Amino acid sequence: TSNKMWGGRFAAGPDAIMEAINASISFDQRMAAQDIAGSRAHAAMLAAQDIISDSDADAIRKGLLTVLSEIEGGTFAYSAALEDIHMNVEARLKEVIGEPAGRLHTGRSRNDQVATDFKLWTRDQFDAAESGLLALIKALLDQAEAGADWVMPGFTHLQTAQPVTWGHHMMAYVEMFGRDLSRMRDARTRMNESPLGAAALAGTSFPIDRDMTAQALGFDRPSANSLDAVSDRDFALDFLGAASICAMHLSRFAEELVIWSSAQFRFVTLSDRFSTGSSIMPQKKNPDAAELIRAKIGRIMGANVALMMVMKGLPLAYSKDMQEDKEQVFDAADNLMLALAAMEGMVKDMSANRESLAAAAGSGFSTATDLADWLVRVLGLPFRDAHHITGSLVALAEQNGCDLPDLTLEQMQSAHGDITADVFDVLGVENSVNSRMSYGGTAPAQVRAQVARWKGIIG
Ligand code: ARG
Repeated sequence: TSNKMWGGRFAAGPDAIMEAINASISFDQRMAAQDIAGSRAHAAMLAAQDIISDSDADAIRKGLLTVLSEIEGGTFAYSAALEDIHMNVEARLKEVIGEPAGRLHTGRSRNDQVATDFKLWTRDQFDAAESGLLALIKALLDQAEAGADWVMPGFTHLQTAQPVTWGHHMMAYVEMFGRDLSRMRDARTRMNESPLGAAALAGTSFPIDRDMTAQALGFDRPSANSLDAVSDRDFALDFLGAASICAMHLSRFAEELVIWSSAQFRFVTLSDRFSTGSSIMPQKKNPDAAELIRAKIGRIMGANVALMMVMKGLPLAYSKDMQEDKEQVFDAADNLMLALAAMEGMVKDMSANRESLAAAAGSGFSTATDLADWLVRVLGLPFRDAHHITGSLVALAEQNGCDLPDLTLEQMQSAHGDITADVFDVLGVENSVNSRMSYGGTAPAQVRAQVARWKGIIG
């Protein structure tokens, strides 16, 4: 049997394989609420413009509410033969209210309909990402505030570099997730234009009011070019791009938590609630949540690349290729929200091991730069000479199997005769971090100032 929507032109129905490749209902049913909201706005506008009668609009509105309750109640029977959510809803509407259902699609196409539904769905994901990021940032701020002056090693090349503070390290992630927040908000602002009323691609000859539907659906304005409106998926790519960068940040942090929770580091203890055990090794407590978060970038960036490849080379306006957009965004959004929530939970629950952090902070010649700076500041040496002298003292300490503060004054003076006992003050890690008072530096006072600034930003 030929199709209910376009059977006029067709003598035969589709091959089973055609139906299988063509149908999107298995996944686009997630946009049911958005589809019905869009149809309600469209029907109300058609009546306001005298394109359909008020009584037909009223029947459509009531019928759509019935269909929505069937969907929400789980009694709606989805049909693959009806291809997608748009035709499933319309066909059911016809069964419920009869003839007026056929007037709903006046001045509209599935092309602007699907763009509208998908935008509404994606817009909610920008909002969900914003909430998830805000919650994570709050958890990080709490960690930073508690440990503003806890010393730990800072690394470059994963080799001990200079002492930093726990709070400073947490605040580095606040900056990263803060940029993610700004990217999400920025993209949401840009995407909030209504495609509804662009119709198939050219607009419509009916006297529709696109401002009215845009407003009803919470859009800032109608999109200004009907060809662009139905062929644009930038909003989905913006989401996937912002989600990919955010997932990359989550992955870096997760990697640090995996390293930090190892027996070799012991920088943090992760809570039982976000760890797993081993079925064979009784001693194990594995950071599975962190590892899964570390991995999520794979599918999220994969979705970003996949949709970019779908869109490249598509001529204007709509092509069926674009039906391949939704699963990528659905999957990426689900996994981003899950990863954000899991990271928030881990950060809230984790405890820093202050003793391990402090012990590690002082090892590995971490205050060598402080020694070099002292030679410049107190003895007036050029930095390059100070660097060389300090390097020779590090080599001496290494030979003796000790750290810089363990050298005697005589050993220090063997490298430069003017060194005095005052030098030992700068070799302590507390003094080291307290001295890093440059704006954005690791000194506890700077960290506290940044915590206060961020609390003001996120309210
Ligand atoms: N199921 C389609 C999609 O998800 C709806 C739009 C169909 N438009 C068309 N001209 N065939 O993209």
